[in-house]
Amino acid sequence: MINGNRLNKHLDELATIGKSEDGGINRFSYTKEEKDGNELVKKYMEEAGLTVQYDAVGNLIGSKDGTEDLPTILLGSHIDTVPNGGKYDGSLGVLTAIEVIHSLKEKDKQPRHPIKVIAFKDEEGTRFGFGMIGSRAIAGTLTKDNLQITDGDGITIDRAIREYGLEKKSLHRAKLENIKLYLELHIEQGKILESKHAAVGNVTGIAGPLWLKFTLKGLAEHAGTTPMNQRQDALTGASLIIAEIEKIAKQSGSTVATVGKLAVKPNGVNVIPGEVEWTVDIRDIDEAKRDHVEKKIKQFAEKIADERKLIIEFEELQRVEPILCEESIQRVIKESICEELGEDAVSLPSGAGHDAMQFKNSFPVGMIFVRSKDGISHNPQEFSTEEDIEKAGNVLYKALVQLDED
Ligand code: GLV
Ligand code: MN
Ligand code: MN
Repeated sequence: MINGNRLNKHLDELATIGKSEDGGINRFSYTKEEKDGNELVKKYMEEAGLTVQYDAVGNLIGSKDGTEDLPTILLGSHIDTVPNGGKYDGSLGVLTAIEVIHSLKEKDKQPRHPIKVIAFKDEEGTRFGFGMIGSRAIAGTLTKDNLQITDGDGITIDRAIREYGLEKKSLHRAKLENIKLYLELHIEQGKILESKHAAVGNVTGIAGPLWLKFTLKGLAEHAGTTPMNQRQDALTGASLIIAEIEKIAKQSGSTVATVGKLAVKPNGVNVIPGEVEWTVDIRDIDEAKRDHVEKKIKQFAEKIADERKLIIEFEELQRVEPILCEESIQRVIKESICEELGEDAVSLPSGAGHDAMQFKNSFPVGMIFVRSKDGISHNPQEFSTEEDIEKAGNVLYKALVQLDED
């Protein structure tokens, strides 16, 4: 069993790094705050008996040898955050994995399989509008072109890596081979476990996020002198499209679509908006349904642009396939939950994205969810109780021990 006090103490300590004035946490990839966070996590890894290194993109990897020559078991999550994020999203998974290894060491238990605990680089995609940089590198799917993606200041991922102080290594070196499975613990970020009065849950699959950037171009003109019937107002056009995005997603039944970021140019009180740029995040566990919603949204946007003499452009920021969790791993997780909680396990899909999605064509994955208070996440109000965290940590411990025996 794990040491719940130590785990919750580590969670509180890590939460002090990148604390924002708005009460949340800002730890974006390749920044000082994220580096400080990684250095603290590195210390915890070393205390747990792991041998630690950074790979080519800055994934923090703690390794433990196995007693037999077997494929490696991967554990992990991320410590980067969304703007003004909560303290549990990602961090809990990294710290719980370390805690499990620390507890095994204290019990003198040697795993048969080699184990690696990874704090993946940039799961959230906050800085570059392109997430899961670290897990893509581990899967071997991160390309040199991807490294040319820029942040809001025009800095490429490649440059950010150099400025972070990482030595230049070929991307291929980050790819991990001979992996048995990947197991991740994460907060649910939804309300299902709470509604079923379950502290911990088994994840069946993860909805795939599709991120698009829309740019709508009109004409910036004088707000006082241009008659209403002679305008090419990009913001009015954008408003109609954004309202329809919500409608189309609602009609689909299961797909969710969000416009979370919007920029108006030139952004003046007395200037008709000449250009509007916004992002759309579309997700479903059913890829065909998600892609159908995408098609309908784009068709509607083209219609509005046409009617209003505007120009619409679409850019794909990331298109990630949904993934199903491996049945055999789910079985072990469910047994571990049942043993820890003394009740049948609740199984549920994940609406949120996770690094595990990047391993779809590489190796099997499983995930354990911890109950979130009121389902709130990507918000400083994010909360899970210390008791639930300890129970979930014990589930991860039990599942790992079982999977190591198989
Ligand atoms: C990450 O939390 C995501 O689901 O976008
Ligand atoms: Mn998140
Ligand atoms: Mn997360």
